[in-house]
Amino acid sequence: ALVVGRRVRSRRKWKRVVGVLKEMEESCETTVGRLKQVVDAMAVEMHAGLASEGGSKLKMLLTFVDNLPSGSEKGIFYALDLGGTNFRVLRVELGGQRSDLDPDVEQQPIPEQLMTGRSEDLFDFIASSLYQFVEKNDSVQSPITKLLGFTFSFPVKQTSVLSGVLIKWTKGFAIRDMVEKEVAGALQQALTRKGLNMRVSVLVNDTVGTLALGHYHDADTVAAVIIGTGTNACYWERTDAIIKCQGLLTTSGGMVVNMEWGNFWSSHLPRTSYDIELDAESPNPNDQGFEKMISGMYLGDIVRRVILRMSEESDVFGPVSSRLYLPFTLRTPLMAAMHEDDSPELTQVARILKDVLDIPDIPLKARKLVVKICDVVTRRAARLAAAGIVGILKKIGRDRSGGITGGRSRSDIKMRRTAVAVEGSLYTQYTMFREYLHEALNEILGEDIARHVVVIVTEDGSGTGAALLAASHSSENVNNIQ
Ligand code: GLC
Repeated sequence: ALVVGRRVRSRRKWKRVVGVLKEMEESCETTVGRLKQVVDAMAVEMHAGLASEGGSKLKMLLTFVDNLPSGSEKGIFYALDLGGTNFRVLRVELGGQRSDLDPDVEQQPIPEQLMTGRSEDLFDFIASSLYQFVEKNDSVQSPITKLLGFTFSFPVKQTSVLSGVLIKWTKGFAIRDMVEKEVAGALQQALTRKGLNMRVSVLVNDTVGTLALGHYHDADTVAAVIIGTGTNACYWERTDAIIKCQGLLTTSGGMVVNMEWGNFWSSHLPRTSYDIELDAESPNPNDQGFEKMISGMYLGDIVRRVILRMSEESDVFGPVSSRLYLPFTLRTPLMAAMHEDDSPELTQVARILKDVLDIPDIPLKARKLVVKICDVVTRRAARLAAAGIVGILKKIGRDRSGGITGGRSRSDIKMRRTAVAVEGSLYTQYTMFREYLHEALNEILGEDIARHVVVIVTEDGSGTGAALLAASHSSENVNNIQ
């Protein structure tokens, strides 16, 4: 009787946990129909954000990047890439011909206290690293001013290609005295304090750097997407479509627009109670809603919240571990490692649950449940990112054989090849994420169209692209706004 009683209890507790999973799966649902609504909403918001300042949650920021590197750039250029968990300094030599760029790159984590301290301390720290890097490769004393492309991956209201003020922080940065301050100026002052003969010649978002490098390698590249710690996209837009900035003139007739899509919002997004809690407890509630469903900073934490709920509802994970209450204990790379554990006993899952969340010795069935949670969260993220990409294609008429180069008769109508540059650890290091994203692109676009859309992966594009832009904009520092 005792054994039977235990079995009944165990069945009941599984029922409850399965109930939690089911409910979560349902609220994460991303049918093709729903994704298409997200596509439409994205395109509509893009229009609204271009029509007027504050017209949409999508800021659609001007970048003043009005030409993309062609390959003819020449010289030695530096770049500094700041915006995620790490910052990178790099140096690239351009020979005047398109080639495989092989930049020297150094990467360093940003000490956590500098992410929330004073701006001067952060910029002095960066300037010192840059100084040491230059010292290794060139002469710091040289009278020739070195040019630096500065990738600063936060929303910036630009006034030219080399200046702009920080609108707000994202991704956990919180240096209060920087908000609304001139970004390139702050770095330039630190470089000068350090005695480094270097001039910040472009200030760009990481998406813009990625687009520049993508375009350098493949001239069909029209947009770039980052899916890393945060997520965002930029694309090439005609200036006459940027209605909020009447009279914007560029020789190319176009300009790169930084969408800041992390802040996109639509009632069609599949939202769960976990998302609502995560947002409410974040340092920036009601902000970056799309980013909080997609990017690396948050996915692991959504999974942690689901495990916590299940753990509170039943004892399938043993007694509730106090670590489950700590925000961001489960980092996304570890979540990916659990998701992709292909050992029959799910030994990776067991190890990570034990080491990171202090949940030891749970049965295989419960470990499988954890893998399932990771799957649901990642699949939704990847599919939403795909919908975002198609939203851009729709806005620029590349989502159907309407954006055509062909002749009159139907059989002549050809879909133009369209390339999108993608960068960021979720896409490059997380196979399941990448596969789900491609699957969704095919589903939304249909295979005939999807065949013409190529995703190109750039490496260090955010930084290398900034160096390329420093080169292609090196003689230009004034833009025509009338
Ligand atoms: C955040 C930033 C954005 C950046 C993205 C990817 O969304 O606001 O500027 O491009 O992260 O790093």
